[in-house]
Amino acid sequence: MKILVLNGPNLQMLGERQPEIYGKAGLGEIIRQVRERGRELGVEIDDFQSNDEGALVTKIGESSKIYDGIIFNPAAYTHTSIALLDALSACRAPCVEVHLSNVHKREEFRHVSVTAAGCVGQIMGFGARSYLLGLEALVAILREKR
Ligand code: DQA
Repeated sequence: MKILVLNGPNLQMLGERQPEIYGKAGLGEIIRQVRERGRELGVEIDDFQSNDEGALVTKIGESSKIYDGIIFNPAAYTHTSIALLDALSACRAPCVEVHLSNVHKREEFRHVSVTAAGCVGQIMGFGARSYLLGLEALVAILREKR
């Protein structure tokens, strides 16, 4: 089983970026933790980060043929991107949307997720652990389908 961990804009700055909101772990550390949990679960993990909406759309478009599932933090594009929603809706690999912060406790513009409708579910508010919980949920539903 192959899972893609996809990260959107500004997440390359995790660790330095508003650590009081997003935590002290850098993206490299989060990916390391996801890979470790992936090994325990017996799944292969790839990862990709981009600040570019088009690059994320292209990556999702390629994913149907390569990946069994996607863990995705669309970051700020969560709240705006119909292009990402369309890409997720067309993608055969199921996606779990994850967020480090609980966006519902934050500014009102973050309360809406445009991308969530293209996902099987959403996990947020648990910091880096949101990614691990997302991975566990995704692997569980993929194994149930088999
Ligand atoms: C985020 C929440 C978004 O609102 C924000 O734009 C991000 C990170 C999170 O993981 O909490 O960049 O997706």
